[in-house]
Amino acid sequence: MDTVLSGIRPTGDLHLGNYFGALRNFVKMQNENNCYFFVADYHSLTTHPHPSDIQVNVKKILSQYLASGLDPEKATIYVQSDVPQVAELYMLMNMNAYIGELERTTTFKEKARQNPDNVNAGLLTYAVLMACDILMMHADKVPVGKDQEQHLEMTCKFARRFNQIYGVEYFKEPKAFNFGNNLIKVPGLDGSGKMGKSQGNGIYLIDEDKDIRKKVMKAVTDSGPTVENSPKPEVIQNLFTLMELVSTPDTVQHFDNLYNTCQIRYGDLKKQLAEDIIKAVAPVRERIKDIYNNEEYLNRVAAQGAEKAREQAAKTVAEVRHIIGFK
Ligand code: ADP
Ligand code: TRP
Repeated sequence: MDTVLSGIRPTGDLHLGNYFGALRNFVKMQNENNCYFFVADYHSLTTHPHPSDIQVNVKKILSQYLASGLDPEKATIYVQSDVPQVAELYMLMNMNAYIGELERTTTFKEKARQNPDNVNAGLLTYAVLMACDILMMHADKVPVGKDQEQHLEMTCKFARRFNQIYGVEYFKEPKAFNFGNNLIKVPGLDGSGKMGKSQGNGIYLIDEDKDIRKKVMKAVTDSGPTVENSPKPEVIQNLFTLMELVSTPDTVQHFDNLYNTCQIRYGDLKKQLAEDIIKAVAPVRERIKDIYNNEEYLNRVAAQGAEKAREQAAKTVAEVRHIIGFK
């Protein structure tokens, strides 16, 4: 049985990018694997959230995990900061991570460019902390979206380096995972690349039907094809990419044919897309509301997950300390 692990930072509500890029795969994997899914609250500290925001956002992610179908009886669901061993492993692994490679990380460069006044050491070593989450549980597979691919490559590099330095075969190299093999990037509908919280273009699992319709109808398009079978410009391809995630293959084919014969009306496509998104997320949304308000249940899930996660974490840290030479 493979060990699977993944996490999401508690920085707000989950959007379709999180759901289709990562979370849906968590749900599919929990039956056949030994799964760990966690809320990456240490990671969220790079932006200095207010203490009350952390609490609310951890609760949001937990309830949205559960509402999406994660089952605490099948998977270990926990909050990262409930596992203090992560901090120790992070300190130890930082000794083998080089400034140059950390500075070259795409996400670091991007964040440093976006927030030049807050280029902190935690941001620089973000990939080390993420590697520790993964290596702590000896994960084989890590379901994530395309934007996390480089972090997984770095995790493998840190694992190899540790093994080499100490002459052991201790850490295994995990794989970024998606069922279709290629990691996916869910596009935003504003023509700006990926859907994301910080991009401000999210369609959220908690959005009401009317909000979803409004967001989809506002999607950027062009004036339409004038030559048959012409390639789709990015903003149009984005609509089709989303449609492939939520609509039936027949529906996608139908609009693809209309596009290729220059008969497409984007308004019709958007209407269909909005209804299909609603169909996909409405059941999740209804469950979120119930679970979010059931504080006792959420606390129980987190406590149960923390206990299981800490057990494995304590074992890993003890082994790592031994390998390093602390007797
Ligand atoms: P955000 O980008 O909204 O801040 P996170 O960085 O917390 O979200 O991402 C949590 C998980 O969701 C990661 O596995 C990430 O790869 C995935 N994810 C986020 N946005 C997208 C997207 N647009 N397409 C595919 N996966 C995504
Ligand atoms: N870095 C991930 C993100 O921003 C979140 C994350 C933290 C994670 N630790 C992880 C994902 C371990 C997978 C495995 O989305």
